[in-house]
Amino acid sequence: LSKRGPIPTELLPATAAIDGAGRLSVGGVDLVELAEEFGTPLFVYDEADIVMRCRAALSSFPGGVYYASKAFLCKHVARLVTGEGLGLDVATGGELAVAQAAGIGGNRLTLHGNNKSEAELVQAIAYGVDRIVVDDGSEVPRIAATAAALSPGRRQKVLVRVTPGVMVDTHRFVMTGQADSKFGVEIASGAAERVIQAILSEPHLSLVGLHFHLGSQIFDLSAFEVAVSVVAPLLERYEIGELSIGGGLGVAYVEGEVGASFEELAARVNAALKANGLQDVSVTIEPGRSIVARAGITLYRVGVIKELSTGTRYVAVDGGMSDNPRPVLYGSGYEVFAPGAAASDRDVPVRLVGKHCESGDVVVEDGALPTGIGPGDVVATPVTGAYGYSMASNYNKVPRPAVVFVRDGKARLVLRRETYDDLMRLEV
Ligand SMILES: Cc1ncc(COP(=O)(O)O)c(C=O)c1O
Repeated sequence: LSKRGPIPTELLPATAAIDGAGRLSVGGVDLVELAEEFGTPLFVYDEADIVMRCRAALSSFPGGVYYASKAFLCKHVARLVTGEGLGLDVATGGELAVAQAAGIGGNRLTLHGNNKSEAELVQAIAYGVDRIVVDDGSEVPRIAATAAALSPGRRQKVLVRVTPGVMVDTHRFVMTGQADSKFGVEIASGAAERVIQAILSEPHLSLVGLHFHLGSQIFDLSAFEVAVSVVAPLLERYEIGELSIGGGLGVAYVEGEVGASFEELAARVNAALKANGLQDVSVTIEPGRSIVARAGITLYRVGVIKELSTGTRYVAVDGGMSDNPRPVLYGSGYEVFAPGAAASDRDVPVRLVGKHCESGDVVVEDGALPTGIGPGDVVATPVTGAYGYSMASNYNKVPRPAVVFVRDGKARLVLRRETYDDLMRLEV
């Protein structure tokens, strides 16, 4: 465990500001006061940060940006990103249902999924989902039949998700573009080409693009260049006009990490297409983490602190793996700081743990807090806007936190805190 300086501003949302007393505000709202008002744990999102990233993505990828809603979805965020001109990528009937409830038109939606049910295809096609990403050859006749039955006058647009066989340097569980994957159609075996031909012979389908998703949290962009060179012959042979490069742009979570920009990714992918002799392919992207991760901060309240004879100082908070399962799932690292003392050195090494009945319930394995932070104080983990709330659970019957969006000095509750009644609502 090691000491640190103050929390680096590179890990805070765009509108984060520290006042003379060292208190952190986001969107013009004091975080310690937010914790008082809405309770803890609390997810706080900087709306301006999300908007800024949507605009950056769209200016680098004018062909189209589809926010990967799995990263964090609620009606408010669906409306916010589509209001900025993005589409929405949904991967299940449940994500589609939220988009529908938010009033997002089918023309904004792309349906993904490696095991789409009949009910999900019917739900999507009946709603007029613009694009469906084919993940296996068996889907082609199923999508065609459903489209013929439900929207006979319209050709259903489809993309084919291919596996370029590229290994990326990320955690095994979030690596998806390698040849041996449950996702997509193999290029190497010729399966991708057979699926393309099957689609081209279906009068109710229209092939608009190829898609790959190499994995998540990718820092080395050369993986994208290699993947482009693998798919280029198919794009050329079948004169396919769009390449969706999925998501995966890496985001900095801890001090010293540096994420890549949409601009750099677009430049590298466009150059790779050109180098492979393709001039007119429109590049689209499905960013999740890179849109919402840094906008989100989780606020917790400190409870028990244990100073062990081994030297480890365990600081327990009122949440944990139920609101952020990433450390236990992927061994992900985070920072912790005190928003009431955001300018102070973090000179006390701590291990931040949750309240769940698992030794693995660690939020920050190697963290540090300023001297004097004790029971009752508010602490925060930054960069928790992606795959935190969306992967949250009720383990140990812990109610899910509330979610608040802040902007221009105002806090808006978008998801209320679960109650014990919510925990009981499925009991029959
Ligand atoms: C098909 C697809 N697109 C986009 C994404 C979003 O990835 P990220 O959040 O890393 O940008 C994912 C994530 O799993 C995905 O599976």
